[in-house]
Amino acid sequence: MKGLILVGGLGTQLRPLTLSKPKPLIEFGNQPQLLHHMKMLKHAGVTEVVLAINYRAEIMADFLEKHQDFGVKITLSQETEPLGTAGPLALAQDLLDDGEPFFVLNCDIACEFNMRSLLDFHNAHGKVGTIMVTRMDEPAKYGKSVVVPHETGLVDRFVEHGRTFAGNLINAGVYIFSPTIFQSLSMRSMSMEKEVLPRLAEEEQLYSLRLDGYWMNIKKPPDFLMGTSLYLAYLQHHRPEELATALGEAADGNVVMAESATIGKGCRIGPDVVIGPGCVIEDGVRLARCTLLEGCRVCAHAVVIDSILGWRSTVGCWTRVEGVSVLGEDVHLNDELCINGALILPHKSMDASVFEPQIIM
Ligand code: GDD
Repeated sequence: MKGLILVGGLGTQLRPLTLSKPKPLIEFGNQPQLLHHMKMLKHAGVTEVVLAINYRAEIMADFLEKHQDFGVKITLSQETEPLGTAGPLALAQDLLDDGEPFFVLNCDIACEFNMRSLLDFHNAHGKVGTIMVTRMDEPAKYGKSVVVPHETGLVDRFVEHGRTFAGNLINAGVYIFSPTIFQSLSMRSMSMEKEVLPRLAEEEQLYSLRLDGYWMNIKKPPDFLMGTSLYLAYLQHHRPEELATALGEAADGNVVMAESATIGKGCRIGPDVVIGPGCVIEDGVRLARCTLLEGCRVCAHAVVIDSILGWRSTVGCWTRVEGVSVLGEDVHLNDELCINGALILPHKSMDASVFEPQIIM
C-alpha cells in the first residue's frame, strides 16, 4: 500500500524555526514531524511513501539519505510551482496509482490514529474517499473546513468556515482515496478543501470517520506546545517507556528527554517538556511546557515556560523565558533577563529584556 504526505507548505507561522529548517523536519517530541507520519503509515502497512515537496529539495533529499534503512520506499515528488493541496496528487499519479486505495496526510498536524481502521472503513463503504474528522470546541481556530456527516458517516456537506456555524467536526487532514480520485484531479494549483472534497460530498462519494487518538494542528507556536502536551499524554497511556524515567525527584509530569541530555541538581522539570539531544540543563533550572531543540544550554536558575528554544541556543543564569517565546537557531540570552512572548530570529545575542510580545530581528 502507498501513502503521500503533503510537505510543501512554507511554514511561515512557525518562524523563526522555519528560517533554519523546513517545517516537516522540525523536531516534535524529539523526532522530525515527518518521521511521526512515516511511522504511522508504516504501522498501517504502507510500503511506499511519496513526499510531495515544492521547495528546499536538497534538505529533504538529505533527510531521505539518513533514513534509507527506514524499511519503507520513500520517493520525492517535486513541484516546479506550488500545486496546492490536491495538485500534488495529480503530479504523483504515476508513483501512487497501483489500482489500490492510498493514504494522504497533511504534514503540519500531530496525531496518532489507527490507520488500519480507516482503511477497513474505506474498503467497507467502497466510495472514492474517506476523510478523518476530529471534534474541536473552537473549529475555526484549528481547521479550515467543517464536515457535516450523516450518521452513517456519508458526508452531507464539506464547507469552508464561514460566519454560520456548521458544526464542530473538522477535517483532520488525513485521507484515504481510491484511484478513481485521479479523474477529479488536474495537474495545476488545485485545492483539496475548496474544489475536490466539496464536489465528492455533493456526488455522495465521500465518507468521514472519527477515530480515537489525539490530534492537533501544529502550524503555530502555541499549537505546537499544545500538540506536544497531547502527544506526551498519549505516550503516557500507550508507550510510557518513551517518557524520561531517570529524572527522579526533578520530574513534575510528562517529560521526553534525549539520552545525551544532562540535568543538574535541584531542577524542576515538567510537565510537558521535551529536551533534545546534547542539551545541558544546569543546576536549579525550572522547565515547564516547553521544547528545547538539539544542543541548547539553560544556565543555572533560569526558567523556561511555555516556550520553544531553537537549536544550540543558550539561556543565561537567572533568565526567565515565557509567554510563548520562540528562540531561533543559535540565539543567546544574557544573564538575568526577562523574555516574554518574543520571537527572536536566528544567530542573535540579547542583553536586554523583552517585556511585551514582539519580533526581535
Ligand atoms: N506539496 C505541497 N504543495 N504541499 C502543500 C502546498 C503545495 O503547494 N500547499 C500546502 N501544502 C501542504 C502543507 O505543508 C500542509 O501539510 C498541507 O498541505 C495543508 O496546508 P494548508 O493549505 O496550509 O492548510 P491548513 O493547514 O491551513 O488547513 C488544512 O489542514 C486543516 C487541519 O489541520 C486543511 O486541510 C483544512 O481543511 C484542515 O482542517
